[in-house]
Amino acid sequence: MHWDQLGNTCVIGLQWGDEGKGKVVDGLLESFDVVVRYSGGANAGHTIVIGDEKFALHQLPSGILRENMTSVIAGGSVIDPAVLIGEIEALRGRVKLGNLRISDRAQLVFPYHRQQDVLAERAALPGGRLGTTSRGIGPCYADKVSRRWGVRVCELFDEARLRERLGLIIAHKNAYLKALYELREPFDSKAITEEYLAFAEILRPFVCNTMLELHGRIEKGERVLFEGAQGTMLDIDHGTYPYVTSASAGVGGVTSGAGVPPTAIRSIVGVLKAYATRVGEGPLPTELMGETGNQLRERGQEFGTTTGRARRVGWFDAVAARYAAMFTGPTHLAMPHLDTLSGFEQLKIATGYRLGDEILNTMPAETYLLSDVEPIYETLPGWERDISLCRSVEELPEQARAYARRIGELVGAPIRMIGVGPARDQAILVEGDI
Ligand code: GDP
Ligand code: IMO
Ligand code: MG
Repeated sequence: MHWDQLGNTCVIGLQWGDEGKGKVVDGLLESFDVVVRYSGGANAGHTIVIGDEKFALHQLPSGILRENMTSVIAGGSVIDPAVLIGEIEALRGRVKLGNLRISDRAQLVFPYHRQQDVLAERAALPGGRLGTTSRGIGPCYADKVSRRWGVRVCELFDEARLRERLGLIIAHKNAYLKALYELREPFDSKAITEEYLAFAEILRPFVCNTMLELHGRIEKGERVLFEGAQGTMLDIDHGTYPYVTSASAGVGGVTSGAGVPPTAIRSIVGVLKAYATRVGEGPLPTELMGETGNQLRERGQEFGTTTGRARRVGWFDAVAARYAAMFTGPTHLAMPHLDTLSGFEQLKIATGYRLGDEILNTMPAETYLLSDVEPIYETLPGWERDISLCRSVEELPEQARAYARRIGELVGAPIRMIGVGPARDQAILVEGDI
């Protein structure tokens, strides 16, 4: 299938985030009219390289950089207005902000969420740390689900109500954080209310019922691309719990977050980096700790887009990828970072895990077991030459083609795009077999 015929499409990371979704989305956008971020928040960091410029987007959809594209932040998202407005300000004059739409139903992140995130991590017992992005994501989603403490974007525009609610909520938060974590400086509800009322005026022109907006546009025949954040192995239900984020990072998150039925989605592009990375705590069964790991990290420039933390790296994990593909159902795969593997004499792919006398072929519910597994590897020959200038499958060394082909086979979906560098044009579209 040609990219132009994808129909409404979601782009979803099939690993632990940072697969290169931003670049894949950017490459596809030419064929779309609307781009939607539907879950997560400022924990995401999507990098787009255009010419000499590099953009790191956290809250804004990657389509914001294109002039004729409507960019939507839908209701399943958690929005930190300080981060969002910072991004808007940084891009003002360079992009058409009139194209931005923000859901009136999205939840708001407040300073006490960020603080709770940091304090909970600091207070965690050994082994209990999650290694979050400190963006307040978990506490904000927890407040949403509690139904008592969540504040939605629409509430920013009812001043009397906002004052009253924040007064009650912040009194509760101060008591809670003091009792649990010995919070030193209580939050000042009046100051926070004033700050958020000021944010409201900046955001007001963009806020609407994005679900209605999306349905209207789909009915008119506009093409919608849903930009996934995080990765399916960080999914709250199916990921490596508790070392996950607080949202549905799979396709379920698209329908619930954006408010569209599954039948509105025609294609699912699963993004699989050519090796494994993870930032934060939690198991990474194929992790490379020594010199090979350092080489991979340096060559791939694996440092977090949101927190700057060094990403953990490892060989490609086909057990995790196959599991992720099972509940995501990719119709196409995109594989960024094949170029990063140039120069390794041999490459390994994990096809199972050994746990004592047992062999695991899929992810266990007991995430803690993953720290004791030993990956069973298939070894493939590497290739020497730099492939960053290749623009067709035929130009790639046979070993690189065989490596990508094998991953497609193991995951059970066709690879339709290969990344050979961070720039917009460093991509190979795959029409047939690799
Ligand atoms: P995302 O969160 O999935 O959008 O990924 P990030 O932007 O956090 O991290 C991906 C990193 O890899 C960014 O620095 C990209 O510029 C870079 N990148 C994307 N595709 C490729 C590729 O094919 N090759 C190389 N070398 N870098 C890539
Ligand atoms: P993008 O969209 C990589 C990870 C954090 C931590 C765990 C929980 O750029 O791929 P949270 O702050 O969400 O409570 O952290 O999830 N994490 C990500 N890792 N890429 C992301 O987003 C991530 N978003 C969250 O590092 O391990
Ligand atoms: Mg990222």
